[in-house]
Amino acid sequence: MRLNPVLERLTPYRAGPPLEDIRRRYHLQRVSQLSANESPWGPFPEVVEAMTAALKGLNRYPDGACNEVRGLLADRLGVAEERFTFGNGSCELLMLLGEVFLGPGRHVVMPHPSFVIYRHIAQARAAEYTPVALPTLEYDLDAMLAAVRDDTTLLIVCNPNNPTGSHIAEADLRAFLQKVPPHVAVVLDEAYCEFVSPEKQVDSVRLLPDFPNLIILRTFSKIFGLAGLRVGYGIADPLLVQALDKVRQPFNVDSLAQVAAAASLRLPERIAERQRLVAAERARMEARLEDMGIACHPSEANFVLFDVTKLGIPGPEVAQALLEKGVMTRSGYAMECPGWIRVTIGEAAENDLFLDAVAGLRAVQDVPSHQIDDLSAEALSPES
Ligand SMILES: Cc1ncc(COP(=O)(O)O)c(C=O)c1O
Repeated sequence: MRLNPVLERLTPYRAGPPLEDIRRRYHLQRVSQLSANESPWGPFPEVVEAMTAALKGLNRYPDGACNEVRGLLADRLGVAEERFTFGNGSCELLMLLGEVFLGPGRHVVMPHPSFVIYRHIAQARAAEYTPVALPTLEYDLDAMLAAVRDDTTLLIVCNPNNPTGSHIAEADLRAFLQKVPPHVAVVLDEAYCEFVSPEKQVDSVRLLPDFPNLIILRTFSKIFGLAGLRVGYGIADPLLVQALDKVRQPFNVDSLAQVAAAASLRLPERIAERQRLVAAERARMEARLEDMGIACHPSEANFVLFDVTKLGIPGPEVAQALLEKGVMTRSGYAMECPGWIRVTIGEAAENDLFLDAVAGLRAVQDVPSHQIDDLSAEALSPES
């Protein structure tokens, strides 16, 4: 057998172990999963009802054009229907963009640290990539522009950025887009845009008419609480949508995912309520951490990156120590962001568990070392 040689550069995604295994291993009552930037809340009851009603139609293939969701989004955002494309999560759209824009002899610019899939799509297509550092964890847009080359075909911006929570203001984004050469497609990954404070919201859709090289990616996995269903969407120039349509599977978004996404879009006030709840909890977590003398990087997303270098134990062991107390977080050491840990904003009780666990570490001066074994290495590694 002759495997494609690009596979040598790739490592398979390692999903975390079942929470039940962690609970048993560390003799815990419960485990709070604050590691994957998911919503702590499931689909709304109306959404579950709509999906239940749709079960009996599962003998049919889904609507390959996602027409209902498309129409609702077009109305809501005031964007023509032909500007939308849908994916099996926005991750699928990222992979398809890799297929459309990347290959040997092509180059992509991306932020660093950021979402791990960006690097993966470059490696999978044997394209070159330049990770542009976020000094002080904030974007350096000039450095991103400077990284653009003649062979650059794609540039990715994640706003707010995962894992730093850093946010680019609308005026800065517009000024940046004006300077990106038109031969470069710009992906604006807005997986967390619904969590941004109302006064800082970027109306990125308004940028589309001025920048035909812009593609906005959004997802139902985060604030909509539908990560398990896998549905995301892109908004772009119809030419770009057609290019993506050429490479996607005809039925890439399943029927139940479409029903759930449509039903969720009909509940905008409930989504806004979630935004307020997450923002309030984020502020409370940041304040408690700061009170403990632990710095947080300002975040506009449903997660916070906090400094672990001043805790009583070595930084790389902190995520393990928290895991042993029943809180799964995402270690910055696994995301090439050493000295920091990312914690997702959960429900108040889960956040309290996390804050108490951190306070416990803070209090202990002489802590035994926290061995990272196979199970916890997996638990600490999920990438999202
Ligand atoms: C920045 C970013 N983009 C995209 C995604 C993927 O979202 P989806 O579940 O829609 O594939 C994630 C998931 O964590 C993310 O952090």
